Amino acid sequence: MKKYFLPAAKTALVLVYLVILAGALVRMTGSGMGCPDWPKCFGYYIPPTEQKGLEFTANKTYDKGQVIIKDETLLVAKEDFVATSTFSQNNWEPYTKHDYAIFNPMHTWVEYINRLCGALAGIACFVTFIFAFGYWKENKKIVLYSFLVCVLMGFQAWLGKTVVDSVLNPVKITTHMLAAFLIVALQLYVIYIVSAKNIVRKFDKKFNITLIVVLLFTIVQVILGTYVREFVDTIEKTGAPKEFWLLKPELSFYFHRSFSIVVFLANLYLLLRNKNLQLGFEKVNWIVRILLFEILTGVVMSYMNFPFGSQTLHLVLATFLFSVQFYLLLESRNSKTY
Ligand code: HEM
Repeated sequence: MKKYFLPAAKTALVLVYLVILAGALVRMTGSGMGCPDWPKCFGYYIPPTEQKGLEFTANKTYDKGQVIIKDETLLVAKEDFVATSTFSQNNWEPYTKHDYAIFNPMHTWVEYINRLCGALAGIACFVTFIFAFGYWKENKKIVLYSFLVCVLMGFQAWLGKTVVDSVLNPVKITTHMLAAFLIVALQLYVIYIVSAKNIVRKFDKKFNITLIVVLLFTIVQVILGTYVREFVDTIEKTGAPKEFWLLKPELSFYFHRSFSIVVFLANLYLLLRNKNLQLGFEKVNWIVRILLFEILTGVVMSYMNFPFGSQTLHLVLATFLFSVQFYLLLESRNSKTY
């Protein structure tokens, strides 16, 4: 069992990153409401690819819960039934959770693939948890944290559903994202415990404390970022073209933009301290590279009208930044004092 744990945990982590990427694509393409219901999509395990599939069809067998769009409203089949040649209201009830009834095949399929990735990641986390029992006698923490990851994945699935029901409530979207970061951190932690190699690095108190501060800075910056994103969302919803999204930004944007200077300087300090004292933490170089790229995508979004892919990249890079910083903190805590 033990030998399967690490490959399973790494696979689960990659799948969690994929879910984050897919979620960012959902957002970029505005596909969040591509499936109005949850966990099925328009009441189907595999959603239709064209509008016709959601129109009332005479003589078709409908299963309970399947959805049609009629007169711009969603109707749900009350029971399993075979439709007659004419539409009968008696077989249908209105979908009450929200009144969003648009079918866009691209949105539906992007959202559906996002959900598939989520399901795959959930299964991978559960399999990792089972294999974690191989470490039960040695280190119960591994089992406990793997279990916690499963619980959080369940929480995310539930939150995903409430996000849809609330027609993309901003606070819920932000919580969804922070919970994703927590999952990544826990998964990295169990991977680290199991795979920690005996590479000797020097422990430096100042480096370690700065690293904790830097990690907190990243979390603050991410929360600020989600505020900017929520603001952008409200402008986008008015139908304004991209050049207007940040024409009159809220204060959160200026905080977010300026705080990245503080974040950058703090990370630069880590880089220089590591170099000057030859502490041996190579990942700090990666952190600064990712950070530069992150700031660049932020600038590109803000001053070049959100080109295709920039929003997704900005979010994915933020996740990598957090991941590498967190892993570095684990390495730093475990290094030796001379
Ligand atoms: C330390 C560097 C940075 C980090 C970690 C960071 C992180 C984030 C995160 C996590 C989001 C939320 C994305 C989402 O919810 O989809 C965001 C949004 C945003 N950030 Fe940053 N950011 C950084 C620097 C910058 C800079 C320097 C700028 C601009 C000059 C910027 C501009 C924006 C904009 C415009 C959004 C809204 C994006 C959207 O609506 O999709 N960011 N940021």
